[in-house]
Amino acid sequence: MIRKKLIAGNWKMNKTSADAVSLAHGVVVAVGTQSNVEVVICPPFTALEGVAGAVDGSLVKLGAQNMHFEASGAFTGEVSAPMLRALFVTHVILGHSERRALFGESDELVNKKVLSALKNQLRPILCVGESLAEREAGSTLKLVQTQLERALEGVSKDLAAGIIIAYEPVWAIGTGKVATTEQAQEVHGFIRGLLAKLYGEPAAQRVRILYGGSMKPANAAELLAQKDIDGGLIGGASLEVRSFVDLIKAATEVP
Ligand code: PGA
Repeated sequence: MIRKKLIAGNWKMNKTSADAVSLAHGVVVAVGTQSNVEVVICPPFTALEGVAGAVDGSLVKLGAQNMHFEASGAFTGEVSAPMLRALFVTHVILGHSERRALFGESDELVNKKVLSALKNQLRPILCVGESLAEREAGSTLKLVQTQLERALEGVSKDLAAGIIIAYEPVWAIGTGKVATTEQAQEVHGFIRGLLAKLYGEPAAQRVRILYGGSMKPANAAELLAQKDIDGGLIGGASLEVRSFVDLIKAATEVP
């Protein structure tokens, strides 16, 4: 298998810096020296520096949950790619459905962020996914295609393989309603097919496509066993050491 499984924790707006450091320590200890699965944790901005210290020298990598596309300037309240890099951040979640729905992020904006992240050697975890209304209207694949094509505009073939895609059906996020393995695999396979059209089959085979949306230790093994599901972007279940580590274990055990 050329694609190493990846488990990423999206802590969203949770954890003070002290609580974040303690959770990060727990993850670091549990991960230890196992390197079969790549592990990324994405705390809020205020905890990045503390968590960078906690994961230093371990196999756990550090991600941010968002960033601005400009390097610096008059953008009150925003944080840039070079600022993240200076804190040893390696990954950044972009285009999360909460950013799109609650903060008005368009595909064009997400595209600018993707290009800026790549320019600054940050690995984007690019989120796409349909709402319940879009699924019920039968437009899931079309919507995912539009989001993906627009977000990847101007991304070269060389850089494309380094991007991580997260398919997160909006109706499954934080709701306890997980997509069935068939629903998830269908979209993951479709995304890989699209990547193959855009960048060629070898590059498409290298891209990790994560599933996100109520992934838990109880449902992870089945999802992770699907051919095109290369890991998970985990919200709720990443907020406690036990459940997050059980998810990592599930990924380690995938045949
Ligand atoms: P959830 O969130 O695991 O709590 O459903 C996933 C996400 O939003 O990334």
